[in-house]
Amino acid sequence: MKTFGCQMNEHDSERIMGELLAQGLVAVDDPGDADVVVLNTCTIRENADNRLYGTLGHLKPLKERRPGMQIAVGGCMAQRDGEGILARAPYVDAIWGTHNVTRAWDLLEAARTGGAPAIEIWDGPGEGGAFDMPARRDVPWGAWVTIQTGCNNSCAFCIVPAVRGKEVSRPLDDLVAEVTRLAADGVTEVTLLGQNVNSYGRDLTHRRPLFAGLLRAVGEIDGIRRVRYTSPHPKDLRPETIAAMAEVPAVCEHLHYPLQSGSDRVLAAMHRGYTAERYLRQLRDARAAIADLAVTTDIIVGFPGETEDDFERTLEVAAEAAFDSAYTFIYSERPGTEAVALAHLAVAADVVAERFDRLRHVIDRAGMRRHEERVGRVEEALVEGPSKKDPTVLSGRTRQGKLVHFADPDGTLREGAYADVSITSAAPHFLRGDLLQVTARPRHRVRIPVTAD
Ligand code: SAH
Ligand code: SF4
Ligand code: F3S
Repeated sequence: MKTFGCQMNEHDSERIMGELLAQGLVAVDDPGDADVVVLNTCTIRENADNRLYGTLGHLKPLKERRPGMQIAVGGCMAQRDGEGILARAPYVDAIWGTHNVTRAWDLLEAARTGGAPAIEIWDGPGEGGAFDMPARRDVPWGAWVTIQTGCNNSCAFCIVPAVRGKEVSRPLDDLVAEVTRLAADGVTEVTLLGQNVNSYGRDLTHRRPLFAGLLRAVGEIDGIRRVRYTSPHPKDLRPETIAAMAEVPAVCEHLHYPLQSGSDRVLAAMHRGYTAERYLRQLRDARAAIADLAVTTDIIVGFPGETEDDFERTLEVAAEAAFDSAYTFIYSERPGTEAVALAHLAVAADVVAERFDRLRHVIDRAGMRRHEERVGRVEEALVEGPSKKDPTVLSGRTRQGKLVHFADPDGTLREGAYADVSITSAAPHFLRGDLLQVTARPRHRVRIPVTAD
């Protein structure tokens, strides 16, 4: 199983994997040993498309050597291109769309018995029923929970609404039941997933809790010590959500808050539905209400028509926001999106590359400062296991989502444990610290009322 793209896809992969394991398959690490290879694809930028075809190219000789091996393509590229994938890679056996993950096993079977590729792409709303599938989680202590599929926004650059369809929220009771089951199974951290989580519940006709209500309900479930979520949309972030983050101890002090651009002109052309000023104001409100909030973001450089002035606004807003970290992307034209009509305004590649580097500089400087601010503090870390670079120390995540490395001299801590760590030094992408104590209970935060705007 090879997964490209966002957490939504990671979670779909866990569910496909769960289904295949339930059918008696066993997981192997090397595609050379596999009877079934599943590529769960992404199409958010052009390089995501290229990675699929690159991977298929690598698999082709394996398939020629072992014709019985099955290759399946699922996810967003499959949803978008469907049969078109066969034109470039006729040796693919099964293709299913984002709405058809429950059909993975049946399609592999159909291809095996029918002797021809099996394809199923459904473009109705939602991904109904898919959540009853067993998921093979990567880690025992953490789980992703999809609260909503699809996206009703129409950001001019974005392919997601075209592939994932209209927003469909899962009922609150189903989500609470799922998280309760996960907690009983030993999960202590859940990450709620949706393309636009702030609009959660708006499509529900029966019992219509909004996102803040969901955060509160999930945060109260026994055994759940950390609740994370991604992504909120700045145009829809409500004071109630900020209040829930401030008041529910389990909800982590981390907001992933996609800016995209700091220029109002570009934001309008992108149809983002907010101005830089409003974005910054909401950020100030969130920081005032939620003590010790870490903020991360997504920014696109080189949207068609972006001028030097526009870009400088992005630099200013990024500097003022002083993000903890940011995913920065070079604009990539996606066939079928509205921004294709702006192709005549494309920014020259060398200009984009130069802007990208300038932005990275501002982002990295702020990120390092944010890390340095944490030196001398005590952070709660959720242990993820031995550090990949130095297996003599452990790696964990703080509530703000930061990676922290620390020694465990007695060797008592296991993956999934919580420990207090005193931060001793900062690096651009991680913190270092000393283990203080293993924590049995979450620390409770002070309740600070939030003012609505
Ligand atoms: N639903 C999420 C975003 C999902 S896509 C949200 O609205 O926040 C993740 C990120 O990919 C986006 O935030 C955007 O920064 C980036 N992205 C999406 N389409 C892109 C494109 N065509 N070119 C470059 N970056 C893109
Ligand atoms: Fe894409 Fe915008 Fe929807 Fe995010 S909110 S998935 S960027 S259309
Ligand atoms: Fe990619 Fe689809 Fe996610 S396009 S970013 S895998 S929703």
